[in-house]
Amino acid sequence: MPITIKSPHEIELMRTAGQLLAKVHYELGKELKEGMTTKEIDRLGEEMIRSYGCIPNFLNYNGYPASICVSVNNEVVHGIPSEKRRIKNGDIVSLDAGLIYKGYHSDAARTHGIGEVSEEARKLMDVTKESFFEGIKNAKPGKHLVDIARGIQTCAEKNHFSVVRDLTGHGIGTSLHEAPEIPNFVRRKRGVRLQPGMTLAIEPMINAGAYDVWWMDDDWTVVTRDGKLSAHYENTIVITEDGCEILTMHPEEQESIL
Ligand code: MF3
Ligand code: CO
Repeated sequence: MPITIKSPHEIELMRTAGQLLAKVHYELGKELKEGMTTKEIDRLGEEMIRSYGCIPNFLNYNGYPASICVSVNNEVVHGIPSEKRRIKNGDIVSLDAGLIYKGYHSDAARTHGIGEVSEEARKLMDVTKESFFEGIKNAKPGKHLVDIARGIQTCAEKNHFSVVRDLTGHGIGTSLHEAPEIPNFVRRKRGVRLQPGMTLAIEPMINAGAYDVWWMDDDWTVVTRDGKLSAHYENTIVITEDGCEILTMHPEEQESIL
């Protein structure tokens, strides 16, 4: 499938899809408490999405059985919510969520600390977010995908963390996953040239230890091979004439960790 360039009208719909998802993340983040099950988090998130008249796009996607991916500590992404898994003080919890509004998809992820987290965990979450913003400094017409990746990778590695190789960001629009694939690390090819109207999900997944990951036997949950922590930070963006606009940012969320 070719990369699609969205019209101003389509971008307006994606902006609304993004703002509603930003609200879901913001409200869900405030509800997180130690002792909750990951299934309760999923249920709350799904209710919020439906209360805005939207559809959870992850539910049943390639058979994924929930609306919110909840990935705890060493889990990188695509954790399956469970009645048996309770989050506890000191955990870091990555929530990945998406929705469909009038046929247009949004996709975003945040990692939250529960109660008091270790210094390393806090730094990992901060650097993962920072790496996203370093990456999108290069999200502008004329730059290439590799320029986004370089910003992300440089930031992560400067802080002695590593960038997951086996999963990437992606184009997004009338489907959750559209072309192109967007790696978070530098490959030898520079990738496509960015153009106004491209809508992209940029999603660094950063490990405290090595970048290697495994898939669990549920065929979804991705975990770090060394058992160390992982964090995830994702937004849907649109390339504009002179840069980009983040579509899934809540007005109350700080754009910078600094
Ligand atoms: N943000 C994830 C991604 O872009 C979406 C989860 S995939 C699902 O790949 F299958 F869990 F829906
Ligand atoms: Co995504």
